[in-house]
Amino acid sequence: MNSKAKLPAGSRCLVTGAAGFIGSHLSRRLLNDGCRVTGVDCFTDYYDPAIKEANIEGLSKHPDFELIEADLSDIEDHWFQGVNWVFHQAAQAGVRASWGKEFAHYTGHNVLATQRLLEWARHNNLERFVYASSSSVYGNTGKLPMHEEDLPRPLSPYGVTKLAAEHLCGLYAQNFGVPTVSLRYFTVYGPAQRPDMAFHRFIRSILNGKALVIYGNGEQTRDFTFIDDIVEANILAAVKTTPGGRVYNLGGGSRISVNGVLELLKELSGRAVEVRYEPVQAGDPPHTYADTSRAREELGFVPQTSLKEGLGLMLDFFKQPGC
Ligand SMILES: NC(=O)c1ccc[n+]([C@@H]2O[C@H](COP(=O)([O-])OP(=O)(O)OC[C@H]3O[C@@H](n4cnc5c(N)ncnc54)[C@H](O)[C@@H]3O)[C@@H](O)[C@H]2O)c1
Repeated sequence: MNSKAKLPAGSRCLVTGAAGFIGSHLSRRLLNDGCRVTGVDCFTDYYDPAIKEANIEGLSKHPDFELIEADLSDIEDHWFQGVNWVFHQAAQAGVRASWGKEFAHYTGHNVLATQRLLEWARHNNLERFVYASSSSVYGNTGKLPMHEEDLPRPLSPYGVTKLAAEHLCGLYAQNFGVPTVSLRYFTVYGPAQRPDMAFHRFIRSILNGKALVIYGNGEQTRDFTFIDDIVEANILAAVKTTPGGRVYNLGGGSRISVNGVLELLKELSGRAVEVRYEPVQAGDPPHTYADTSRAREELGFVPQTSLKEGLGLMLDFFKQPGC
């Protein structure tokens, strides 16, 4: 994956969730590659919408970027005219918040919105429909690394909705030939990461000299994936011809314990880190680790950024004034 994948110049792309963490990075890359991008986002208040405004500030000034501020569940035919590549990143994220009354947001933003978009896609001639799925579909597989053929058994309501939407992508591929591909992201990190995610919380606490909170004993492990590698994989998935409905794991290959991450952050920041351990949260799997052989063989996915390098870039981002 040394030379970057590219869509043909002038390609018309739709990025859903364009104001979010991953959607804004992906939109920027597509514009830099000479594509025209329609972004859609309804600026949910799961985290401060001002952060999302900041994410797309630069994009909004680009002549080839158009923003539609709307909820995908209300999709109308004329919104995305001329689009032939879809990158469906919009969702209600967050494992821990998906219990209880909030679940209605998860079914609405993750399942219904995806079904509405797929209905639209079914009547439009698309080159590719890339769906942002999640490692949360696996739950506790009892074996590592996790492989696409393992039986998914989500541990959280969030994971259930991401899996349901992934199945919808498969159904629309089988029944109506929508050229879907689902990418199961394993914990994505980098500049502009969502404020509810662990690395973001850790770095903020370290830079502000405050104690940081770890749920569990910190020995849980995760496969962390740098944002640029996720963006590259989206483009690879768009340009490679693969069977409709195919599913791929995307992991950075840096499986490490949360305590191990803290050691790295201490080293990179040169600061002491005070930690408060709190009980494990319902829905958090003990370990994640992606078998990425399918993505490597069929998409040419080879993550380029080591955890240490990626964390360094993230630290630099959060040290900027105004961050
Ligand atoms: N960040 C990760 O580590 C991670 C891991 C696995 C999967 N994912 C998936 O990647 C995608 C992007 O995640 P993120 O971390 O960038 O989240 P994010 O919350 O930063 O971005 C999602 C964006 O989608 C928008 N949105 C939600 N529902 C919408 C709707 N119905 N209509 C229009 N806009 C809507 C939100 O306002 C938000 O700006 C999500 O699908 C998420 O499930 C993320």
